[in-house]
Amino acid sequence: MPEKEDKRASVAVIGAGPAGLFAARELSKAGVQVALINRDIKPGGLAEYGIYPNKHKMKEGLRRQFRKVLEDENTNYFGNLSIGLDDDLTLDELQELGFDALIVCVGAQGTKWLGLPGEELDGVYHAKDIVYHYNDLPPFSEKSFSIGEKILCVGVGNVMLDIAHWAIRDLKIQEVVAIARRGPADVKFTKKEMEIVARNLDLAALDAEFDRTSAIMEAVGQDAEHAKQFILSSLERAKDPVSDTKFVLDFLVSPKRLIGDEDGRVRGVEAEDTVLEAREGGGTKAVGQGSTRVIEADTVVFCIGDKVDVSMGLPLDKWGEFAKAPEPRFPIDDISFEAYDPESESYLDGIFLAGWSREASSGLVGTARKDGNQGAKAALAYLETKAEGEASAIEKFEKRIGELAKPIVRKADWVKLEEVEGALAKERGLEHFKFSSNEDMLAAMG
Ligand SMILES: Cc1cc2nc3c(=O)[nH]c(=O)nc-3n(C[C@H](O)[C@H](O)[C@H](O)COP(=O)(O)OP(=O)(O)OC[C@H]3O[C@@H](n4cnc5c(N)ncnc54)[C@H](O)[C@@H]3O)c2cc1C
Ligand SMILES: NC(=O)c1ccc[n+]([C@@H]2O[C@H](COP(=O)([O-])OP(=O)(O)OC[C@H]3O[C@@H](n4cnc5c(N)ncnc54)[C@H](OP(=O)(O)O)[C@@H]3O)[C@@H](O)[C@H]2O)c1
Repeated sequence: MPEKEDKRASVAVIGAGPAGLFAARELSKAGVQVALINRDIKPGGLAEYGIYPNKHKMKEGLRRQFRKVLEDENTNYFGNLSIGLDDDLTLDELQELGFDALIVCVGAQGTKWLGLPGEELDGVYHAKDIVYHYNDLPPFSEKSFSIGEKILCVGVGNVMLDIAHWAIRDLKIQEVVAIARRGPADVKFTKKEMEIVARNLDLAALDAEFDRTSAIMEAVGQDAEHAKQFILSSLERAKDPVSDTKFVLDFLVSPKRLIGDEDGRVRGVEAEDTVLEAREGGGTKAVGQGSTRVIEADTVVFCIGDKVDVSMGLPLDKWGEFAKAPEPRFPIDDISFEAYDPESESYLDGIFLAGWSREASSGLVGTARKDGNQGAKAALAYLETKAEGEASAIEKFEKRIGELAKPIVRKADWVKLEEVEGALAKERGLEHFKFSSNEDMLAAMG
């Protein structure tokens, strides 16, 4: 990497979720000066604002790791600063300031709507917004969500179970129904997460679902009994219920249209029946049958994963992901971390992608951490090839953000905020306390 008389290489890591934090750690270990830039005041991304709020032990363990990363003197934290075409600074501006490389680790902040009629109705939400809301991330923490007595979740992954958890154990509403376009053998949730709400499952309805769907599963070689046992096995160590909320799993239906009432409130979903078709190379896909049925609900939450935010200004591939170089110059474990423009078929020199910005909605914190490490390794390999580095960009960057009409949050500010929140938690006898507005967080930093 370029090491000239008076300077070390400098890299801007954009996004301080697990991927960005661990990319920063890898770079600073290698002696690189890191500007770790984060939209949110606090670091942590979805580890702070996605993981269910009552998983205190897990969240505190992660915070401990994040604190360690930020303690490194080569890592400079800049919170409350957004990068993007309409944001505080653009990626181009960061490059012009002289950073030797950029690693984009901003997660998947775009909302993946399906483009169905009725998505604009009251009571229709995307899981990400609700998850940010109950985890106290501004501005979602300050928005109100109109949740009724029957939530229909689209999708059967772990995020659906987080929404079900919230609805069943915190809100204690009447009913949650989760619909899946494929069958019970293709659920994405884990047994451990199902254990939290399994005792609310409507077992008679589940039996009926297996009676209805087993032949369709078996026609593509799936083991219906095994799929049933997987779901039922979560009952063995399930948490005691705290509400009478009925939890229903409804398979082999794909939403086609959301139905509203005269006040513009969602009242249900018209969904098409599907069957399974074996995919070439393995797996199954859902194939619509033309027949539809209406599933009533006064709230609909899409739990179908997220997509990247196009306003970052990076080119997309045909699947809507940030495009990666098909023939990476610096692959790590055969993975491409290099941003790419498919139209001009050119590398975006010096720009790397990691975590959910590289592969949206994919995997756990540990996966994002590994991806951040590897993305940093790819960037380090790139730095080795740069004969000449620019003069250190950090000072120029500091000067530039000093001109912005907003407070930028530094490491010491965040430490102060954590102290104040910790003291308030103690005073109020809580396991954890979080301010839910940027104003309160900034005021606490003094
Ligand atoms: C609801 C939910 C619950 C989950 N629960 C678990 C769990 O229990 N256990 C587990 O292991 N995994 C869990 N995960 C998965 C885990 O949270 C992710 O794998 C991981 O957080 C992804 O890391 P990331 O750094 O790529 O992105 P993120 O965590 O999304 O971090 C992105 C960071 O980028 C910043 N950013 C965004 N836009 C900009 C911008 N324009 N400019 C500057 N900064 C920006 C954000 O402020 C954020 O800090 C959960 C995910 C979800 C959605
Ligand atoms: N506690 C935890 O450990 C925890 C909590 C939350 C999230 N996470 C992790 O975070 C990641 C993201 O989770 P996730 O639940 O958002 O995603 P996911 O696991 O990919 O599940 C998404 C669900 O949405 C469905 N879906 C996607 N597109 C659809 C469409 N167009 N129409 C109908 N249904 C559609 C999928 O069905 P198909 O399978 O048919 O595509 C699937 O059932 C996962 O790795 C997850 O494990 C972990």
